[in-house]
Amino acid sequence: MKIRLTLMTLSLLVVVFSCQKDTFKTNIKAPELPSIAYDYAPKWGGMLSQMEGQDIGITNEGATLGRVLFYDKILSIDNTVSCGSCHHQANAFSDNTKESLGINSQKTTRNAPAISNLYDDNLLFWDGRSTSIKDLVLRPIRNHKEMGMEDMNFLVAKVKAAPYYSDLFAKAFGNADVTSDRIAEALSQYLKSMVGCNSDMDKSVATGEPLSPQAQMGRDIFFGKGTCYNCHSGPDFNSRGGFKIDPFFPPNGGGFGWAQNIADIGLDKQYSDVGMGVFDPALVGVFKIPSLRNVAMTAPYMHDGRFATLEDVVNHYNSGIQKSPNLDNVFKSWDTGEAIKLGLTDTERSSLVAFLQTLTDEDYMTDQRFSDPFIN
Ligand code: HEC
Ligand code: HEC
Repeated sequence: MKIRLTLMTLSLLVVVFSCQKDTFKTNIKAPELPSIAYDYAPKWGGMLSQMEGQDIGITNEGATLGRVLFYDKILSIDNTVSCGSCHHQANAFSDNTKESLGINSQKTTRNAPAISNLYDDNLLFWDGRSTSIKDLVLRPIRNHKEMGMEDMNFLVAKVKAAPYYSDLFAKAFGNADVTSDRIAEALSQYLKSMVGCNSDMDKSVATGEPLSPQAQMGRDIFFGKGTCYNCHSGPDFNSRGGFKIDPFFPPNGGGFGWAQNIADIGLDKQYSDVGMGVFDPALVGVFKIPSLRNVAMTAPYMHDGRFATLEDVVNHYNSGIQKSPNLDNVFKSWDTGEAIKLGLTDTERSSLVAFLQTLTDEDYMTDQRFSDPFIN
């Protein structure tokens, strides 16, 4: 009996050990990095020139380490998924599919948003459930669908075991100690450094030169009768520019959500994904107002990726807004309380799309500093 038990324990151990060994596999290939770290200080300009000289709390070595972690698949439980698997540089770090694939081909329930110009964002994820980038970055690693690395000690052990990290941690933090806090700090420095502000719209604002006549018409609609600027305001075309989330300002679904960078835009009369409604029934259907920078590169659109093109998005605002329970006041008729219809002509709608296309910073999609160091 005793022998049988011991044998059973032994074989169990063998199974556990071989599993561990498998998940413990580290990248054989080391990342290819420049001998002197890239300069990660954002190149502020255009609509963000007022940021010049501001300290956003990053170092070149910290962001370099963050870049490697962002693309390293060993951060997932089975070494198959990295942040970069769902956030592609060619798509301004969004995913070009409705639902992204995590470990074991599990699908995410929401569309992976772009990552750009988050340097001072304090309302993250589509439902704003994270309030700082540093708080956010470990969540996808732990998420059982995305990267499945629930045990932070195991994460630290795996990162420690990969030969290329001790030097990177030492350069970033003064010594080679690996902790989950340092992993979060480095990832967050990298994400904060990801800024693009060299779009045609930035150039137009900087120089006073108009956009193309078509885009210029779209710009007037965006800032005028299209009402877009009510919510997509400030230099990053979300409401963050002017207002900060104020915990003492009560949630305000169905009101002027833009003051808090959130809104219900009447996608459905009844939402299957309630967004911020999980926190408060008055916020059912309320989602983060996303930045529109690089939006032409980030299809599909909305929290569930329901719209394949910018034309579809514009059609929604033009004639598809539903009277949802918490529909933002911007979209309600003052007389009747019904959902408004913008009534834009074909020409006006395509000019609005042309304007949205001027928000693309081409350099951002190819910037070496943000590229995958494991494939070169
Ligand atoms: C399996 C795909 C997948 C992986 C892997 C993944 N993400 Fe995401 N990411 C998403 C999805 C989907 C969302 C939207 C989730 C939501 O809002 O509920 C998201 C949201 C985000 C956001 C929020 C952006 C905003 O504007 O609010 C950031 C930042 C982000 N991810 C960074 C990361 C980092 C860093 C990693 C790696 C540690 C990572 N992601 C790994 C799919 C993924
Ligand atoms: C009342 C606030 C509000 C107004 C006004 C508004 N938006 Fe939005 N916009 C949002 C919110 C909130 C979302 C995300 C909604 C969701 O996914 O559920 C969004 C999403 C988008 C997206 C998709 C972005 C992405 O990454 O998926 C685009 C494009 C867009 N809006 C363009 C416009 C245009 C063009 C106008 C003017 C015709 C406009 N918006 C007016 C709040 C607003």
